[in-house]
Amino acid sequence: MNHNQTINPGFQPLKTIEWVGDAAGVCRIVDQTVLPVELRYLDVADLATMWEAIKVLRIRGAPAIGIAAAFGLYLAARKSTALTYTQFRTDLAAAADYLSTSRPTAVNLFWAIDRIQTLIASLSDAPIESIAEQMRLCAMQMIDEDNRVCRAIGLHGQELIANDSTWLTHCNAGGLATAQWGTALAPFYIAAELGRKVHVFADETRPLLQGARITAFELQRAGIPVTLITDSMAATVMAQGRVQGVIVGTDRVAANGDFANKIGTLGVAVLAKEFGLPVYVAAPISSIDPTLSHGGLIPIEERHSREITHGFGRQTAPDYVSVYNPAFDVTPAKYVTAFITERGIIRPPFHKGLAAVFAQP
Ligand code: MRU
Repeated sequence: MNHNQTINPGFQPLKTIEWVGDAAGVCRIVDQTVLPVELRYLDVADLATMWEAIKVLRIRGAPAIGIAAAFGLYLAARKSTALTYTQFRTDLAAAADYLSTSRPTAVNLFWAIDRIQTLIASLSDAPIESIAEQMRLCAMQMIDEDNRVCRAIGLHGQELIANDSTWLTHCNAGGLATAQWGTALAPFYIAAELGRKVHVFADETRPLLQGARITAFELQRAGIPVTLITDSMAATVMAQGRVQGVIVGTDRVAANGDFANKIGTLGVAVLAKEFGLPVYVAAPISSIDPTLSHGGLIPIEERHSREITHGFGRQTAPDYVSVYNPAFDVTPAKYVTAFITERGIIRPPFHKGLAAVFAQP
């Protein structure tokens, strides 16, 4: 029996982000602004270029943003002219503050920055070059960890994916939102590797079309059947019984299980409840923010009006129209069936379950 019925033989996911070369090398990212028509790589060699890449979504998706920030800090360390540890730490604190202004919602960005700053604090007796090198190694380790975490999320999540089932996803929480394997799409990759037939409906995801440009691209590349719909078709797809459930990713999960994800996720979750469908949220531990008691405290990024009035270069709204463009929304925990983490599936009550997985060493 062919155990790879729905995944392309020999399929290897793209490397969203990697380090190329030695300490003098570059951070290579897939430039996601030109997908799917072009697979272009960008070599990032300084902090400002990394900030811009995160800001304009050349690299995007919560886990990938975190790894990018870690490399961004290394690039700042490499440029630092500090002769003392104190000066080095001041330089890096400034770089961390600068990176923190790029995108506010994904907690992974702050998680990665904190991790690097904790590393720097632990190396106060080391020579500056060796601190910088430890930072680079730590960022590279984040890639390996991310791959393990995503595969583990996939392994737990595949248990929810019956053979011949069809799922809806929103935005892109796939390989291109992480180092390689994705969170919300990882269960589909593993179910497909196990020989199960899976089919995914991808919401196009207005206004930046991550569903159309990235999810459809990466599932097609893997050989997993994908059907693209506009966001406004999700209700019809559910009403017609075309999907058995929803799996999405998240940028930040509050302690009570409320979660932020790409704008439109809230609508999908409310619809799913109406149509009696489960909503699973793939969430690495690095996306849980136990410091926020509820989702109302999650900072929501607002983006430029031109993303709506001039999407992809063509004016589609009258001059000077007032625009509101939040990039994320918060879905209350009551709409979530379960979280899929690398440490297992968490069902309600989420407050307890999330605290327990977060506390594990
Ligand atoms: O604005 P984006 O493209 O960075 O938004 C990405 C998402 O909303 C993802 O669903 C989320 O970051 C999870 S990625 C594993």
